[in-house]
Amino acid sequence: MSQQRKILMTTALPYANGYIHIGHLVEYLQADFWARFQRMRGHDCVFICADDTHGTPIMVKARERGITPEQLIAESHKEHVQDFADFQIEFSHYGSTNSPENKELCEYFYKKMQEGGHIRTKPIQQYYCEHDKMFLPDRFVKGTCPKCGSKDQYGDSCDVCGSTYAPSDMKDVHCSICGNPPVLKASDSIFFKLNDFKEYLQEWIPKHSSSEISKKMLEWFNEDLHDLDISRSAPYFGFPIPGTDNNKFFYVWVDAPMGYMASTQQWAKAQGKTLQDIWQDSQREIYHFIGKDIARFHLIFWAAFLKAAGYRTPNEVFVHGHLMVNGEKMSKSKGTFVAARTYLNHLNPEYLRYYYSTKLSSSVDDIDLNLEDLVNRVNSDLVGKITNLGSRGGQMLKKKMDGMMSTPDAEGAALIKSAQDRAVTIAEHFENRDFHKATNEIRAIADEANKYFDEKAPWKTLETNPTATKQVVTTTLNVFRLLAIYLKPILPHYTAKVEKLFGEANYQWADLQKVLTNRPIQDYEHLAVRVEADKVKAMIEESRKLNESIQAAKKATAPAATAAPKKAAAEPTTPGVIEFADFEKVELRVGLVVEAEEIKEADKLLRLKIDVGGGEIRQIISGIKAAYKAEQLIGRKLLVCVNLAPRKMKFGMSEGMVLAAGTGGSDLFLLFPDDGAQVGQRVK
Ligand code: 2FM
Ligand code: ZN
Repeated sequence: MSQQRKILMTTALPYANGYIHIGHLVEYLQADFWARFQRMRGHDCVFICADDTHGTPIMVKARERGITPEQLIAESHKEHVQDFADFQIEFSHYGSTNSPENKELCEYFYKKMQEGGHIRTKPIQQYYCEHDKMFLPDRFVKGTCPKCGSKDQYGDSCDVCGSTYAPSDMKDVHCSICGNPPVLKASDSIFFKLNDFKEYLQEWIPKHSSSEISKKMLEWFNEDLHDLDISRSAPYFGFPIPGTDNNKFFYVWVDAPMGYMASTQQWAKAQGKTLQDIWQDSQREIYHFIGKDIARFHLIFWAAFLKAAGYRTPNEVFVHGHLMVNGEKMSKSKGTFVAARTYLNHLNPEYLRYYYSTKLSSSVDDIDLNLEDLVNRVNSDLVGKITNLGSRGGQMLKKKMDGMMSTPDAEGAALIKSAQDRAVTIAEHFENRDFHKATNEIRAIADEANKYFDEKAPWKTLETNPTATKQVVTTTLNVFRLLAIYLKPILPHYTAKVEKLFGEANYQWADLQKVLTNRPIQDYEHLAVRVEADKVKAMIEESRKLNESIQAAKKATAPAATAAPKKAAAEPTTPGVIEFADFEKVELRVGLVVEAEEIKEADKLLRLKIDVGGGEIRQIISGIKAAYKAEQLIGRKLLVCVNLAPRKMKFGMSEGMVLAAGTGGSDLFLLFPDDGAQVGQRVK
């Protein structure tokens, strides 16, 4: 084998306030293909990731849910780790940016920046919400666009006309959390003098990213680089900046990329090594896999931080495009914004792994997930072409013959050799992250083998020429084995079953050189089944519904909660006319589901424990089982009618009612209040 390489690779750290979705998976899957490929080649490849846990959105979300940010990030850590594992993504270590290692590194980098004279302090003006007692990042300020006059736009850009501006340019500004107008406050901010690194970066960027991306990055270099505000004012969930009396915290985009190092450090420690042993080893190649939207944070800011602190910069930043679904942006209303978990509820992760591999390349172009194409590709290539070889060959040998492979004849040997000869090209494609080219080659091998198998028609010669028949089957199975080895970086579980079939283990790239002869095979185990289009539909439907219920609820309650929910019936009620004054007696509050369980003995009922504010927990038994799973509701806020007389039901007392719209059964949408609603808040 060629010399062993040492590689450290990372993927972007997902935010801890959101779930993993199929758009994220474009990155984690391609990185996983690459890592597995490198390991199969015998290289030492460390694959690092972590959750990105700091910043205002996480702090606000935790506050809304009435839990600590630490609780929130612990929850998502668990979910993210499970989602990745279920998609067969194998990190060497999955850490968190909220770690002591990361804190220490941030402080060290800051010290180095200070010592190098790259830090300065300047006052800035920023919106502050007196109600929420916090400074508002641009995305938390809303107002009227100064250009086109559209209402309710974010503080940094207008969704309607696309213009960008400062929040202070807007009219009618209000806090997006509570709806109150914020005030402008001056405070000191700590800046990193990015321009000190202008020349270095100008030279460095083109050597460490694709020409397409570096051209884009260098557009920023036509003028001096602006100072980067690396501080945020308290309250902020993050690491305090030393010497600021806990008033200033590191901006999340400082400690996020630092998380690559901190997580590496944790991994290194577990191996009895140090961060220096890994990161500062000049023989070790360092790669970051990221999406194009965050290229600037890596190629400009992060590279400059590393330089300032005297650490090695990455060998290359691999930048990919975004995911489109059916030719359009992922859409919540169309159900194409699919959570990893929703996907897993319906489909085998290996389908997506295979499909993405047929689309992925090293270019920064967006990739399109066409759902019909996914079904076709999986059914025609993976099941029809590839798996069929193994299942037809394997079952014939095992069931119709004695289960022993023989030796290929000259023609068979040539076919096997030609499949082996593609190893160099396929390896090159994997190495260059041109996964779609690798799968084209793999498919071409399968085509040749199918042609051979069909021409030889071994099922016809079983009786008349068992020796030749066995040679054909032996050849076919050998080619199938090679296909499985080629596919191992993409379909590790699939290949593991093939290893078992041949009584082998842990295929390496070098195993492509072997030909199996005169040996038994094991029982054929099902490798891949066809995708049913109905399952794809059901996945989209679940996704659409999930997002729809969130949207419906958002409409039902604005931040200030002025509109009364229109349609509201959690349990079938007998409609009759009531007086408005009677309706006004209904007291609605925002409640937080602290516990939820299915009542096994009942078809329709869930038992919920809901915090309705002021420390009061109510038990509510609700007929929503067909529309929601208990786990889905824990930690969510709901609208609750709190002044209904308690009802004694078969399964206990029900002390209130949760609000929902719909016709009942599975067509039922709970009304979730806006994210900003406070637990216990009265809704009118
Ligand atoms: O854009 C994002 O989702 C960020 N959480 C990525 C961070 S990557 C790295 F710098 F940590
Ligand atoms: Zn506010």
